Amino acid sequence: MFASKVGAILAAAGSAVGLGNVWRFPTETGTNGGAAFILIYVFFMLLLAMPIMVAEFAIGRHGGSTVFQAFEKMSGGRRGWRWMGLLPVISGFLVLSYYAVVAGWTLYYAFEALMDGFAGKTAEDFTADFGAFSSDSLLPVFWTAVILAMTCGIVALGVRRGIERGSKLMMPLLFVFILVLVVCSLTLPNASLGLKFLFYPDFSCVTGSVILSAMGQAFFSLSVGLGCLCTYACYFRKDVDLMKDGISVATIDTLVALLSGLIIFPAVYSIPGLQPDAGPSLVFVTLPNVFQQVFGSIPLLAYFFSLIFYLLLVMAALTSSISMLEMVTAYFHANFRLPRPLAAILVTVVCMVLANFCSWSFGDWADVKLFDMTIFDFFDFLVAKFFMPIGGFLMCIFLGWVVDERVLRAEMTNNGTLRSPLYPTYRFIIRYLAPLGILLIFANELGWFRFLK
Ligand code: PHE
Repeated sequence: MFASKVGAILAAAGSAVGLGNVWRFPTETGTNGGAAFILIYVFFMLLLAMPIMVAEFAIGRHGGSTVFQAFEKMSGGRRGWRWMGLLPVISGFLVLSYYAVVAGWTLYYAFEALMDGFAGKTAEDFTADFGAFSSDSLLPVFWTAVILAMTCGIVALGVRRGIERGSKLMMPLLFVFILVLVVCSLTLPNASLGLKFLFYPDFSCVTGSVILSAMGQAFFSLSVGLGCLCTYACYFRKDVDLMKDGISVATIDTLVALLSGLIIFPAVYSIPGLQPDAGPSLVFVTLPNVFQQVFGSIPLLAYFFSLIFYLLLVMAALTSSISMLEMVTAYFHANFRLPRPLAAILVTVVCMVLANFCSWSFGDWADVKLFDMTIFDFFDFLVAKFFMPIGGFLMCIFLGWVVDERVLRAEMTNNGTLRSPLYPTYRFIIRYLAPLGILLIFANELGWFRFLK
């Protein structure tokens, strides 16, 4: 059990806040047209991701232990639901494999900051440096291996709690750094163009794929749909208000994402030749440039600021990668009776092999395509735009239609001790609105029922 209510929020927030906010959100916003995408993302956050997060909390706390067992216990003998437990396993492998690549890049940048490698560089240098680094066949793989080894060590030794206690201090600190960076970024030349990109929606560019991307980003950012949060919720105390926690975590998470956008986009336009739709490299080119341009005249400040910022970002990535490895490890531990350390090591080794392929997508294997996507993009697509929404859909059906209503009510009201005025609305969302919404978006994407081009 988490000793305090705050501990429960922090663990869930630790899983949610990560590279999904600081790296994936700006990347997706940039490639999907800016403000309109953000509005749709926030809408999906409220309507889909947050309610499903609360659903995962309810399933986890009521069902206990792994997702696999929770579904088995709560399905009242309907054996089909047991297979829901496979979802986190498959997607856990996929997501950790490519997330670790980006986390590895972050760790490398922290190392560069430590070595004062950004000093005196220009925006052109940062663009060239990132291109050379990410397309190298060994260097990024090395840093990915370091991140995976750290993640594995923490999960195998069961010291996750220690990390989470640490994040009690680090997350607010990260938040403060992000705020400072927002202010810095706004002072850069052409910052107003970035603000325009962020705040003036152009709905003419909203297509089915933009909608799907916004939904995927909402799910990814909150870590929902895979059952990852179920694992955490079984440690929640009985007096934790699930709805309130869900709202808090979603608010923190969305705020961090929006603030990251406020750092990256004003900075994009100060770099000649860089466009918002630069893709995965966007954040890794703009951020070091902000540090140099703003603090460059005071080298010591530039040095410490960038070093601490990257270290905090590595921590945020770690608390997320831990939650990914945790859910796969828990499965092998519970179902095959493998000792936890062994299970964690086996999973990590498989992920390392897959991560190699993802990393090479930026270099030697750039031409290897699956459904017209690089391996890295394909993994990202499968997780965020396929497994997570499908998982979310199934959780809504499960909690809204399969599980006895009294269970849901008891979890939402803590056995009648909370008033929970939002409960009827919540139940309506889980039973009708959320599953129908997900279904419609898929139907449009598959061309069954087209309402958007
Ligand atoms: N939500 C995490 C982030 O924003 C990523 C994540 C996805 C974590 C899926 C766990 C499961 O970085």
